[in-house]
Amino acid sequence: MNKIRTNISSARVYFKDVFYFTVISVLLISLAFQFSFQELVIFTLLFVLLDLYLLYRLGFSKHNEMEQIKTIINSIRKNEFSSPDEIKLGKKLVEIEGDIKAMFLRTHNDIINLKKLEQVRTEFLGNVSHELRTPIFAIQGYLETLLNGAIDDDRVNRGFIEKAAHHTENLNNLLNDLIDISMIESGQMRMSFRYFNIREYLEILVQEFRPFAEEKGLELKFGAIKANLQVFGDKKKLRQVMVNLLSNAIKYTEKGYVEVKVEEEGKSAKIIVKDTGFGISEEDQLRIFERFYRVDKDRSRAVGGTGLGLAIVKHIIDAHESKIMVKSKPGEGSEFSFSLKK
Ligand SMILES: Nc1ncnc2c1ncn2[C@@H]1O[C@H](COP(=O)(O)OP(=O)(O)O)[C@@H](O)[C@H]1O
Ligand SMILES: [Mg+2]
Repeated sequence: MNKIRTNISSARVYFKDVFYFTVISVLLISLAFQFSFQELVIFTLLFVLLDLYLLYRLGFSKHNEMEQIKTIINSIRKNEFSSPDEIKLGKKLVEIEGDIKAMFLRTHNDIINLKKLEQVRTEFLGNVSHELRTPIFAIQGYLETLLNGAIDDDRVNRGFIEKAAHHTENLNNLLNDLIDISMIESGQMRMSFRYFNIREYLEILVQEFRPFAEEKGLELKFGAIKANLQVFGDKKKLRQVMVNLLSNAIKYTEKGYVEVKVEEEGKSAKIIVKDTGFGISEEDQLRIFERFYRVDKDRSRAVGGTGLGLAIVKHIIDAHESKIMVKSKPGEGSEFSFSLKK
């Protein structure tokens, strides 16, 4: 009895239609056949019984469908599916099955992305704390040693102070890079694109870096670039790119040269920073643009690296709708390049 009531009540959306249909049918038929009162009552009763049966059948199938959908939604809520293919509804519900699958896929992907993001965030925080700890511990160590008497020892005091100062510089570099990367990644990087003369622009940069190259006995070459070549980009941001690429080239090269050149390729100009340094293995080439990834941590730290430089470079070049490329062979040198519209 309960089941009948449930099924009929599931069909309640049809009540109104069935009611009108019944009234009109009974009226028309009784008029057409000129029913007596008794006949009319019997006929109406028969019709009502038929309606009840109809409503029962309709309600039954509707109730079933609702139950199927409810079960699926509950299973989704309880995280019981790992792929949309596991979601199966009856034949009559194929359309809604497609919709539920699409919805499931979206939420599923959102959750996966959120989990990934959370992991990246945790890793990033871990890296930052680790990177901060290294210089801070070093500075603390040198200062304590100095305070404990080394300050009066002329053989070491200056060296210790210099080392502490070096780590302070590292700390400052790290903070600056962190500010940059957080600005970029939170979408606060405002770009300002315009055409500018690439030769004049690179010439100034190369002049700035000449003393650093000479200090290491490296030749800093500046390739022949057409005098009036104009390229399209954000000068300020590209300066950051070039500073990173040039300082890397000088930092990670012990002998030979560092070269800056431009090659025209159709509608774009390729800016190249080449060196004859340590080079980077193919495996590492895939990872050097990741935040904090360094091939040799100690070497990078010793030269004031933060491991964030190339991550910043990649972001800026991406914002130019271009791609930063690297070609390198360990022991032979590296070539970083990117193209700009001309
Ligand atoms: N020109 C290069 N030659 C060799 N290795 C390089 C060069 N540029 C970058 N690398 C490698 O890629 C790593 C990541 O570079 P970067 O993001 O600039 O960080 P870092 O602060 O260590 O310089 C460096 O630690 C270094 O191992
Ligand atoms: Mg660097």
